[in-house]
Amino acid sequence: MTLLEVVNLKSGYGKMEVLHGVSIEVEKGEIVAVLGPNGAGKTTLLNSIFGIATIHEGDIRFQGKSIRGEKPYRIVKMGIGYAPQLNNIFPNLTVLENLQMGAYLRGRDPSINDDIREVFELFPEIARRKNTKAKSLSGGERQMLAVARALMAKPKLLLLDEPTAGLAPKAATTLMNKIEEIREMGLTVLLVEQNVKKALSIADRGYVLVGGKIVLEAPAEKLAKENIEKLFFGQI
Ligand SMILES: Nc1ncnc2c1ncn2[C@@H]1O[C@H](COP(=O)(O)OP(=O)(O)O)[C@@H](O)[C@H]1O
Ligand SMILES: [Mg+2]
Repeated sequence: MTLLEVVNLKSGYGKMEVLHGVSIEVEKGEIVAVLGPNGAGKTTLLNSIFGIATIHEGDIRFQGKSIRGEKPYRIVKMGIGYAPQLNNIFPNLTVLENLQMGAYLRGRDPSINDDIREVFELFPEIARRKNTKAKSLSGGERQMLAVARALMAKPKLLLLDEPTAGLAPKAATTLMNKIEEIREMGLTVLLVEQNVKKALSIADRGYVLVGGKIVLEAPAEKLAKENIEKLFFGQI
C-alpha cells in the first residue's frame, strides 16, 4: 500500500519556489531516504508535507487522501509525526515534559503513560535522564528526544530531518539502529539526510534531491554504489 504520495510538488515560502516538481512515493513499512546537499530543498519537502510551506502546484496524498492545505495539527492527528531539523525540543522542559508535549493533541488519552514507557524502552539513554532539562542533554540524546517526542503522537509515518546532523559517528550509528527498530514497530519512515552512507545503511530506497528536483531514485543498495556526493555538486 502506498502510504504517502507527493505528486509534481512545486512549493516554497511565499512566492519563492524551492521545489520544482518533486514526486516521491513511500510504501507502508518502508524506510525511504531523501539525500541531497545543503540548500537542495530537503527540509522544504518535509515542511510541505507537514503543512508549513507554501504549495504552488501539485498534491500530497496520505493514505490515498489529499492533505494539501491541511493545518499541521490536523496532519498530526491523521498520523504523520515530524522531528524537524531545528528547534525540535523544548530546552527548558524536562525530558518527560517534552514527551508529554508530544502527546498534547491526544488530550487525556489514558494510554499516554504506557506509550511513554514504550519510548523509554526504545531509548533507555534518555529514560535515565527523564527529569533532566532537555538543554542539558548531549547532542545524541537531544536527537533521540526529538524522535521520541514525535513518536508520542502515535504516527503511522515519521518524518525525520537530518537526525544525525552534528553527531559523532558512534552516536549517528546508534540513532540509525533506533530508526530501524522504529520500523520494526510497524512505522514507516521518510528520512532526510546529508549523511549518505548512514542513511543508505538502513533505507530500502532513496531519492537524490538537487536544486529542488529529484535527479535519481533507486533501491538503497544500488544508490550505495553510485557516487552520490558527485551528483550533489553537479559533476556527473
Ligand atoms: N523559511 C524560509 N523562508 C525563505 N526561504 C527559505 C526558508 N527556509 C529555507 N529557505 C530557502 O529554501 C532553499 C532550500 O532550503 P532547505 O529546504 O532548508 O534545504 P535543505 O534542507 O536541503 O538544506 C534555500 O535556498 C533556503 O535559503
Ligand atoms: Mg534542511
